[in-house]
Amino acid sequence: MTDSPWTRKDLLGIADLSAEEIEHVLDTAESFREVSDRPIKKVPTLRGRTVVNLFFEASTRTRSSFEIAEKRLSADSINFAAKSSGLLKGESLVDTALNLQAMAPDLIVIRHGHPGVPHMLARRVEAGVINAGDGAHEHPTQALLDALTIRQHKKRFEGLKVSIVGDIEHSRVVRSNVLLLGKLGAEVTVAGPRTLMPVDMESYGVRVVHSIEEAVRGADVVMMLRVQLERGARMAFPSTREYFRLFGLTRERLKAAKRDVIIMHPGPMNRGVEIASDVAEGRYSVILEQVANGVAIRMAVLYLLSGVHQEIG
Ligand code: CP
Repeated sequence: MTDSPWTRKDLLGIADLSAEEIEHVLDTAESFREVSDRPIKKVPTLRGRTVVNLFFEASTRTRSSFEIAEKRLSADSINFAAKSSGLLKGESLVDTALNLQAMAPDLIVIRHGHPGVPHMLARRVEAGVINAGDGAHEHPTQALLDALTIRQHKKRFEGLKVSIVGDIEHSRVVRSNVLLLGKLGAEVTVAGPRTLMPVDMESYGVRVVHSIEEAVRGADVVMMLRVQLERGARMAFPSTREYFRLFGLTRERLKAAKRDVIIMHPGPMNRGVEIASDVAEGRYSVILEQVANGVAIRMAVLYLLSGVHQEIG
């Protein structure tokens, strides 16, 4: 056996993880990063393992990032498209899961619009389950890739001032991030209109403000979130132009942040709504580094949940 602190079957949320486990995923991801820089981007680590990708909600980054990570680890991937599945013929999600389990996959990656679906699946199947986003609940691999990006730039979390601005109400990214950053000792501020702020947000141990200027002032990290119009945010403010006027990140507003601030966004990004184009592409932006780190984090999570590290040990 190795001395790895990772003995979990599933990755369902950041809420379950200790600070030690989080740091271990980040360290493991660092060791996988160089695979993506090789001319032949493949290692045999998960050869003979089968990973099923189950996406019941749209995804660009998370889905392609998991698929690339699986290919780079030499796993056999099966992509299950919800739109062409038995679910449309009345099959329940549990029956779909049990049928998939009968084919003996090693890992299942699932994104679903309802909170708790990955947890239910994890109780019903022997395969390891990875939550790739469940409703407005959690998105643990996003928070881990965000943490990897922050650590690369800032080298620490303790006392780091991180401000997360936008549609807090509908965001699974913010929940996973405040849990993770809190466990690692960062000082987190969340900001957004009152109509897009959950009433219990302070119970997460964060500072809550309703002005982007206040959130950006003195920040080491500014993370902008998309306004999730498709989840009901359209009713929360008069127009996207008004939203940008009050909460959009502009170069002018950014001047109040620390001189070495980094700007993050999980995507998909709405330019001219939550962030100005010149900020998204400007010198402080690390948005595409987040995407690159997503592959390394997902390689690390697939590797640790597969149990291969214990077999090697
Ligand atoms: N960040 C994120 O979850 O993006 P996708 O919805 O494109 O996967």
